[in-house]
Amino acid sequence: MQTTEIIQLRRSIDPDLYNGEKVDKKIIQEMLEAANWAPTHGYTEPWRFIVFEQPQIPAFGNWHALLYKEETAPEHFLDKKFEKIKNRAQHCSHVIVCVNKRGTKNNIPEIEEIAATSAAIQNLLLVATAHRVATFWSTGGMCYHPKFKEQLGFEESDSVLGIIYIGKHDGEIPKGKRNSDWESKVNWK
Ligand SMILES: Cc1cc2nc3c(=O)[nH]c(=O)nc-3n(C[C@H](O)[C@H](O)[C@H](O)COP(=O)(O)O)c2cc1C
Repeated sequence: MQTTEIIQLRRSIDPDLYNGEKVDKKIIQEMLEAANWAPTHGYTEPWRFIVFEQPQIPAFGNWHALLYKEETAPEHFLDKKFEKIKNRAQHCSHVIVCVNKRGTKNNIPEIEEIAATSAAIQNLLLVATAHRVATFWSTGGMCYHPKFKEQLGFEESDSVLGIIYIGKHDGEIPKGKRNSDWESKVNWK
C-alpha cells in the first residue's frame, strides 16, 4: 500500500468490535520501532510506551476500573462506567499506554515534546493499519488522572497522551469522515 493510502485507511475501530485474536508480537514490535523514528527536536525522544498483552489485559482493566472507584466520590460513581472501564480491553490483543516523558532540556518547550510523542503515536497507528490491525486511541477513563501516570511509574511533569487499544477486527473498515476537506484548512500564499 502507498503511504497516503495507509493514512486514509486508518480508522478508529471500537475495541468492543475486536474478535479477541492475538496480533503477532512482531507487528507490535514493528509499530514501536516506527514510533521511535518520529521527529524529535533536540533528540529528547520523549515517547514512552507501556505495553500490556494477554494474559495481562484483564489485570489492566481491573486496575484501571479500581482506580476509577478509588478516585471517584461515591455520589459521582457510576457502576456502568466502572464496568465499561473494566471491560474496555476485553477483546484486545494488546493495549499500549502512551506517555510523554518531559525532558530536562530547558530550550525544548513541552509542546514540542508532546508534538513529537503525538507523531510517534501516529507512526504506531499507521504501521498497525498497514498490517490490517485495528486500533483505537482513547483518552477516556482515568487516563488523565494524576494517579494513573503515578501508578505506572511516571512523574508529575510527564503526560499520558492516550491508551491505544489494539486488536483484530473481522468487519469492513468503517468509512472515514471529516467535517471539511483539506483545502478549506489551507491558506496558500
Ligand atoms: C488525542 C486523541 C484522543 C482521543 N480520545 C478518544 C476518546 O477518548 N474516545 C473516543 O471515542 N475517541 C477518541 N479519539 C478518537 C477520535 O474519536 C477519532 O479519531 C475521530 O472520531 C476520527 O475518526 P478516525 O480516527 O477514524 O479518523 C481520540 C483521538 C485523539 C487524536
